[in-house]
Amino acid sequence: MEIKRVGVVGCGLMGSGIAETCAKAGYAVKVTEANQAALKKGQEKITKSLDKAVEKGKATPEQRQKALDSITFTPQLEELKDSDIVIEAIVENMVEKKKTWKVLDSLCGPETIFASNTSSLSIVEMASVTKRASRMLGLHFFNPVPVMKLVEMVKPITVDEEIFITARKFAESLGKTVIVAKDTPGFIVNLLLIPYLLDAIRAMEKGIGTKEDIDAGMTLGCGHPMGPLTLTDFIGLDTTYFIAEAMYNEFKDPRYASPPLLKSMVIAGYHGRKSGRGFYTY
Ligand code: 3HC
Repeated sequence: MEIKRVGVVGCGLMGSGIAETCAKAGYAVKVTEANQAALKKGQEKITKSLDKAVEKGKATPEQRQKALDSITFTPQLEELKDSDIVIEAIVENMVEKKKTWKVLDSLCGPETIFASNTSSLSIVEMASVTKRASRMLGLHFFNPVPVMKLVEMVKPITVDEEIFITARKFAESLGKTVIVAKDTPGFIVNLLLIPYLLDAIRAMEKGIGTKEDIDAGMTLGCGHPMGPLTLTDFIGLDTTYFIAEAMYNEFKDPRYASPPLLKSMVIAGYHGRKSGRGFYTY
């Protein structure tokens, strides 16, 4: 099976990056959001990122235009029905994801492959509401998608081997390196990353260091591109909290339990860079 048409559900931080990356690799992309305002915001994000790619010498003005021309923005989920692969990048919430997959399963042809960009949730559970568990897997991208070189593929026990190979070739065609993880909360990267981010928040809560010093400790002392609190702002405090909750619910290990400060900030709407305020102000 050859993938030519890609549907992306959600044009937020991750969905917009996934749509842009697929368009740059030559795919015909349709991206959907629940309303026009969110769609417009996503479109602006993609345009800005492509402008930056040209500025940084990573794309020519012609490639930028070609990528923009190959993306259709639509509020109708139905328009994704003729996709060869649909990548879902909506909120990290199982109820919402199942609702979306159920609708997509009734709209799309039987050949369409389903891939979730979930950071932590069970692919088998999502697949259980569809009639195509053998065509469903995880494609976990990293933020900013056009820049980060990794795709973490999540292999549920239900996926057909040939479908997995097709999806792997597709991920590699985006210029990404693939790693393969079991369908278990957090997969490989977040299993390691999330406890580290939570520990940094706990260190701040306990007054072990200021947020600036905790961040500088890891950038200057360990060579990380961003300190853990800046990175949590970058990922989104809400997303970090949802991932931590999913991991804690599964493993009941206190390492994955959300610190009270993170929960309070999420409830208060301090979701990090995207909301203008997190550990830092933007
Ligand atoms: N399109 C294409 N390339 C771009 C680009 C764009 N829009 N914007 C920047 N680039 C390229 C630049 O040309 C540069 O390439 P080079 O190294 O070959 O010169 C590179 O990307 C870095 O760009 P900048 O110099 O503009 O930016 P910085 O050096 O400030 O780095 C950053 C920015 C890449 C975000 C860096 O701070 C970083 O790597 N931070 C950590 C990000 C991270 O950890 N992400 C993963 C989060 S976890 C996740 O997403 C999973 C989820 O489940 C939680």
